[in-house]
Amino acid sequence: MILEGLERLEYRGYDSAGIAVIDDGALRITKAGGKLEVLNGLTRGGTTLPGFAGIGHTRWATHGVPNEVNAHPHYNTAKTIAVVQNGIIENYVALRKRLISKGYQFVSETDTETVAHLLDLYYKGNPLEAVIKVLQHIEGSYALSILFADQPDVVYGVRKGCPLILGIGEDGNFMASDVTAILKHTRRVIYPGEMEIVELKADGVRIVTMDEEEVTHGITEVAWDISAAEKGGYKHYMLKEIMEQPRVVRDTLSPRIRDGRIVIEELGMSDEELSRVRRVFMVACGSAYHTGVTGRYIFENLARIPVETDLASEFIYRDPLLDRDDLVVVISQSGETKDTLDAVKIAREAGCKVLAIVNVVGSTIARESDFVMYTQAGPEISVATTKAYSAQLIALYLLAMKFAEVRGFLHGRKLRSMLDDLMKLPEQIELMLGNRDKVQRIANRFIAARDVFFIGRGIDYAISLEGSLKLKEISYIHSEAYAAGELKHGTIALMEEGSLVAAVSTQPALHAKLLSNIVEVKARGAVIFSVTTMGNREIEEASDFCVTLPETNPLFANSLAIIPLQMLAYYISDGRGCDVDKPRNLAKSVTVE
Ligand code: G6P
Repeated sequence: MILEGLERLEYRGYDSAGIAVIDDGALRITKAGGKLEVLNGLTRGGTTLPGFAGIGHTRWATHGVPNEVNAHPHYNTAKTIAVVQNGIIENYVALRKRLISKGYQFVSETDTETVAHLLDLYYKGNPLEAVIKVLQHIEGSYALSILFADQPDVVYGVRKGCPLILGIGEDGNFMASDVTAILKHTRRVIYPGEMEIVELKADGVRIVTMDEEEVTHGITEVAWDISAAEKGGYKHYMLKEIMEQPRVVRDTLSPRIRDGRIVIEELGMSDEELSRVRRVFMVACGSAYHTGVTGRYIFENLARIPVETDLASEFIYRDPLLDRDDLVVVISQSGETKDTLDAVKIAREAGCKVLAIVNVVGSTIARESDFVMYTQAGPEISVATTKAYSAQLIALYLLAMKFAEVRGFLHGRKLRSMLDDLMKLPEQIELMLGNRDKVQRIANRFIAARDVFFIGRGIDYAISLEGSLKLKEISYIHSEAYAAGELKHGTIALMEEGSLVAAVSTQPALHAKLLSNIVEVKARGAVIFSVTTMGNREIEEASDFCVTLPETNPLFANSLAIIPLQMLAYYISDGRGCDVDKPRNLAKSVTVE
């Protein structure tokens, strides 16, 4: 059961793994470096670890190299207490010194091991008391699950700044950092609050505060089912998720268009409040940040509101000038990214309203924000995001259009035509997916590449950023995205015979400019793969390979142009024999700074 659950959580990290169970009053622990398969083999599918209660973990190394010793669970010297942790114990160095001075011996380099020894220090027969004492001493963001060998029917848990959910099942109860781990057993979920201590037994759950006051939380029924999180016949989750995009876009779009108007009920702001917004900040990480880069162009173009798009890890330390009339839009698939969550906190402290565009219902960012607009991508398993990225774009289009409408810039024929174009997107994405074989053939030509350059202008630059990230993260080919107009200021020095350039040109007003850039790099020997609007003959002819897009409003072109770039990255990665769904060194949900 624990192995199966961990398999679903492998996207959080997969460089080592481990399990602890209580069997006959003793803790049995097995750990292994490498992917979960290794642990699976070592425990013969879990059969070497029978038990009534247990905990498990897949790791994404923060402190210490990924090996067996540093893998979780960590335990006290007597092996009577075991603990797994997500997050970071920030004051672990000081705690470790203190524990060593008391005679404790550490075997790993991890911050988590301090928790095991601290629990040992404070455990005098009352586990709850020991957990509370430890929580008073540790700092940072974490989620913990703990076993005490002499409490064979209980798993203790607590969260602070990291996710932890409880599953209420028929024949037992569960604790996990994400619902996908427990969906096979139950869809009934409890979300414990921060610093609430959970005592989980097979037949019940007790939750208490740090003052040992009992608290109750309602049970939420999760809408996702297990089949949504399975491969469904595709070779990789990434390919399955790429192919799901027409549905995801439709699901994110259609409930928010009613009678020719955009209705974003979740926004919770009156039209008057919306028109008072003076500036918008878009803050996110990774691919979600790239949707924010696109969002900026669209917001400013349609709603004429100044927008700043920031990487969350930069935003939180640059002391941003925030005003009460600013709206901060955070974008996150997982809803758990630590830097993005910190951005929410900073924005709220400054008195700004925070709107979160999030995929995972009930995630921390969703709960900490003023308003939540959920993308309807369903569970995304592959580390490289595709469908959640597409759903985020749709959410941003809708939001920008809503602002434009309220502020009097979008109505009548223009609004109707944009709505028509939006509604056509799912079908058009389907059409783009039809280029699969063609893109695979092109990918074969790129498989041995050492570097790939992505170029575009405006919105096309935003797509280039995402196309380049997709390629490098799963194929390990070095690639960069450049604003095409900047090439002449340095990058063009890198062009030589056979350099690979992916050029994106979907904005009619900029076709001629991009054509010049293509011609410039071609003159230096570059091979061109272009993605451009149908009928754009000049760019087609100037390119060695070309995929074209059906007609749409240029502001929505990102949704179509990204499809061949995702497929290009996928086929190159698969062709190079890489582990497409689990690229090295990465994790899908990054809950550390
Ligand atoms: C990780 C993932 C990226 C993702 C980023 C932000 O780095 O590998 O694919 O875009 O986190 O994640 P979020 O869940 O906040 O969208």
